Amino acid sequence: MNLSVIVLAAGKGSRMRSKLPKVLHDLAGRPLLKFVTRAAQSLNPHMTVVVYGHGGESVREALADETLEWVEQAEQLGTGHAVEHAMPGIADEDSVLVLYGDVPLIESATLQAMCEPVSSSVMSLLTTRLDNPHGYGRIVRDADDKVLRIVEQKDASEAEQQIDEINTGILAANAKALRGWLAELENNNAQGEFYLTDIIALAVRDKVEIETFAPASIEEVQGVNDRAQLATLERHYQLSEAQRLMREGLGLRDPARFDLRGELSFGSDVVIDVNAVIEGTVTLGDGVTIGPSCVIRNCNIADGVEIQANCVLEDATIGEQSRIGPFARLRPEAHLADHTHIGNFVEIKKSVIGSGSKVNHLSYVGDTTIGSRVNIGAGTITCNYDGAYKHRTIIGDDVFVGSDSQLVAPVEIGAGATIGAGSTITRDTPPGELSLTRSKQKIVSGWKRPKKEK
Ligand code: UD1
Ligand code: CA
Repeated sequence: MNLSVIVLAAGKGSRMRSKLPKVLHDLAGRPLLKFVTRAAQSLNPHMTVVVYGHGGESVREALADETLEWVEQAEQLGTGHAVEHAMPGIADEDSVLVLYGDVPLIESATLQAMCEPVSSSVMSLLTTRLDNPHGYGRIVRDADDKVLRIVEQKDASEAEQQIDEINTGILAANAKALRGWLAELENNNAQGEFYLTDIIALAVRDKVEIETFAPASIEEVQGVNDRAQLATLERHYQLSEAQRLMREGLGLRDPARFDLRGELSFGSDVVIDVNAVIEGTVTLGDGVTIGPSCVIRNCNIADGVEIQANCVLEDATIGEQSRIGPFARLRPEAHLADHTHIGNFVEIKKSVIGSGSKVNHLSYVGDTTIGSRVNIGAGTITCNYDGAYKHRTIIGDDVFVGSDSQLVAPVEIGAGATIGAGSTITRDTPPGELSLTRSKQKIVSGWKRPKKEK
């Protein structure tokens, strides 16, 4: 099929009460407009033309990674005016599909079906019936149920306002015919706009058949005008994604308390507890379990890893059978080998943790390379920053660092070394030996604790 797609995205979206253009508001981690361009691209069109206006350049920048044509509509004089702006580059023989940048959940299959019959003698219109059709354009049909025209809410008679079949705004027509109809549009209506919807009556006049299609669900054609509608679509989308992932075998304790803002791939028998937020690209191996209330962004987590409650993990890799949390934070470039343990209130940044090593309590490990089978005692801090520069700490295999130690980088702890508890290590320590910095313990006999007077 020779298809070109036009996406209308010039509207201001005043009801969002936001500086951000409406089509850049985020749904499941992506701008609304990206959902629409993705649906468009799934049809393999010749081109996708986005009509932009409000927020201009920021809209273009946000979608810079996609192959799109951009047309500016400086003044928003109506949907017909907007489509007309997008037409010059489109070939006469193409079918043209019109989408709205603020209707994000439209399905590729619905669009595919609509585009199929389009020719110079057939056009397609996506309509649906609503309990409360107020505000929408209504589909006026004749006694034989043939579509005659669309009337906008503000132009509708009492009788027309009773019609519950509404225009979703999405339509497809032959480019040459559409070009002709657009040139004929007038703005002598209640809103003084060039209505795209007026082309229907012109098509009927030209004996072009109007085929109507219905979306599979109402959410598919719901637009975002305010933040409440955005939140409603977000919930709907999240639940449908959760259900899709469960069909693919993902274990979710509660699909209503799971948020995916990116791409998740997972092995068998993965179970995710409530209130997980998954962002970016996340890979979970076989048998991974995620405890309640974790945020996981751009991580690669191998087989058998257990992430306990309340962890925040970002740009990290975790080797198999490791145990993380509760309350652990892995920051970018945390690379954990297999069988590692990272416990509560531990922060790891830009560090390699070797196989079987443990950092179980209250520690900061940054810019560090830790070997295998190392034990980092509670409250250990790698002092990686001197106020101007970052320095590395290197810890060999089988090292034991006693609790409450500071390792002042740059510093190297030799393999098999032991650091006595409470030490501040500023120089390299030899392998296999005990190093400690500690003042002698004093006993003050007969000392009395102060007491409050009665
Ligand atoms: C439009 C339809 C109405 C339909 C409804 C569905 C017309 C005249 N009416 O009404 O039949 O029921 O959508 O939601 O088409 N836009 C531009 N440039 C403009 C005007 C609009 O890009 O000059 C964009 C908007 O950003 C928006 C879309 O087109 O994404 C629809 O515009 P809007 O003003 O919301 O149309 P409605 O009055 O809702
Ligand atoms: Ca609208």
